[in-house]
Amino acid sequence: MRKVLVTGGAGFIGSHTVVELAAAGYEPVIVDDLRNSKERALDGIAAIIGRRATFHRVDCNDGEAMEQVFAEEGPFEGVIHFAAYKAVGESVQQPLMYYANNVGSLIVLLRLMRRHKLGRIVFSSSCTVYGQPEVLPVNESAPDRLASSPYGFTKMVCEQLLRDMAHADPTMAVVLLRYFNPIGAHPSAAIGELPLGVPNNLVPFITQTAAGLRKSLTVFGDDYDTPDGSCIRDYIHVVDLAQAHVKALQWLGTQEAPVSDVFNLGTGRGSSVLEVVKAFIAGTGVDLPYTIGPRRAGDVEAVYADASKAREVLGWEAKLDLHRALADAWRWQERLK
Ligand code: UD1
Repeated sequence: MRKVLVTGGAGFIGSHTVVELAAAGYEPVIVDDLRNSKERALDGIAAIIGRRATFHRVDCNDGEAMEQVFAEEGPFEGVIHFAAYKAVGESVQQPLMYYANNVGSLIVLLRLMRRHKLGRIVFSSSCTVYGQPEVLPVNESAPDRLASSPYGFTKMVCEQLLRDMAHADPTMAVVLLRYFNPIGAHPSAAIGELPLGVPNNLVPFITQTAAGLRKSLTVFGDDYDTPDGSCIRDYIHVVDLAQAHVKALQWLGTQEAPVSDVFNLGTGRGSSVLEVVKAFIAGTGVDLPYTIGPRRAGDVEAVYADASKAREVLGWEAKLDLHRALADAWRWQERLK
């Protein structure tokens, strides 16, 4: 079996990727310290793939513990590095914590990869690196902007570090995946998003409000220069996103090192906040109280992907639409009750 190390493999995107790796014949080895995820994700993965995935409860910043994982489980065919903090607002309050964790864990990982002669890595990046693009849909050659948050900067720093490594080290094979807005849940409703505390992201807030856990959704601004005044994003089903990681790994297997490339992962379709709200109500028939509030600091007006490069090079494209993603997110929320 071809082993793949998945850091943050108990998280939202990580857990779905573990499932897709197993389906593609890989043996995922999960490293996660569960600080922002739950054991429940591991049970959910087991329910879907029919066995327990190998799991090490380890902090990716702990070089010694990570060395042990490499010694015990290696050799790996590649690494998929998800483990990171991801709350934009929190990153503004606690920048040091964000840089230390998000950049620090990648440094630990790269040192270990070098020691163990492992060059293949797929990295979780974000469309946040584009800021507000001048041209939409945005493609990978658009210039990076100054990120609007320390979180965004950690993604830019990690991308640059990986590009620099691929430049300096002839054994490196790097894929940077820039996610747009991942939503939804596995159709089995065995795994999904598990936000701790009050969700920052739109769809978990919608499903929690519909479930009666929150009083009302606030739509952050309806005075943007968009058809209905609310912000536009590219919402992508997490299962589609997970499958792109498998394609990226398979593609790396066909490339001569050194290689480093970057791909947008989105549907190519922009949806406004109000469209998402209406699609949710229409699709589920559930009441969703909402009000219009002020803009949220740091939000860009509109961003959606030109994902044609991922289609042409990786042979990947998103297949599931917004309605399907919202239905799956809601089924998962209902399972959580
Ligand atoms: C943000 C980050 C992105 C990061 C992602 C990870 C920015 C600009 N974007 O995405 O880089 O990868 O989080 O979590 O930093 N909304 C409401 N009401 C709510 C919540 C959200 O109206 O209660 C709106 C927002 O204004 C936005 C849209 O819904 O227009 C999506 O918001 P969210 O789910 O938080 O994602 P992003 O801000 O796009």
